[in-house]
Amino acid sequence: MTTRHFRVWRGDDQGGALTDYDVEVNEGEVVLDIVHRLQATQAPDLAVRWNCKAGKCGSCSAEINGKPGLLCMTRMNTFGPDETVTVTPVRTFPVMRDLVTDVSFNYEKAREIPAFAPPADLKPGEYRMQQVDVERSQEFRKCIECFLCQNTCHVIRDHEENKAAFAGPRFFIRAAELDMHPLDARDDRKEFAQEEQGLGFCNITKCCTEVCPEHIKITDNAIIPMKERVVDRKYDPLTWLGRKIFRR
Ligand code: SF4
Ligand code: F3S
Ligand code: FES
Repeated sequence: MTTRHFRVWRGDDQGGALTDYDVEVNEGEVVLDIVHRLQATQAPDLAVRWNCKAGKCGSCSAEINGKPGLLCMTRMNTFGPDETVTVTPVRTFPVMRDLVTDVSFNYEKAREIPAFAPPADLKPGEYRMQQVDVERSQEFRKCIECFLCQNTCHVIRDHEENKAAFAGPRFFIRAAELDMHPLDARDDRKEFAQEEQGLGFCNITKCCTEVCPEHIKITDNAIIPMKERVVDRKYDPLTWLGRKIFRR
């Protein structure tokens, strides 16, 4: 057991400040353990959102020494023995209290995406899904909705004014997943991503990919292929004509 110095942002939507704490740390612990110890010993009203403590519910997103990450997956032994550990709420979403932010922006963006639409005349059991089609979008299904990618993307991190027009990387992978589904009858996922989700704002900095705890290759496997296909369809006259004539 050692005692370590922590700084935790305390406050609400009216403002706040970093508060200093000296806390017991034991071998094998993660930052969420320390936050729980703070609640149990020195700060019973410290607000934090968490659920699984296993990196799977996506609730405990925060910034630890300025780096976006999951509190439950950040091990204490990744810091130097005398290093102060500073925990702040994610920056892109409004603070409710202490480490808890209002992430409803993400649910609003999720609702805007047209739902999966199988062909209307397809009967149950009529279509056999190929393994290759399952595998193509499987990576995107690993998303735990921690919204760390959303928090990190510079398009909205310091630009509140861009939020209305930008859905963010989490929802670009949703668009790509639906676009790759062989039974999705909608033919306009790419155009929707470009025109309604703000795909064009993304300048492929890949910061979203770097912070994803599920190691989803957001930029390389979802965003870039969507961007390429938007361009292909927009500027290929045969594709354009074909879509006019055979539009599903
Ligand atoms: Fe989190 Fe990755 Fe999903 Fe983004 S894509 S919400 S970083 S799990
Ligand atoms: Fe943002 Fe990721 Fe694009 S961080 S700019 S969505 S590559
Ligand atoms: Fe579930 Fe951290 S508590 S991901």
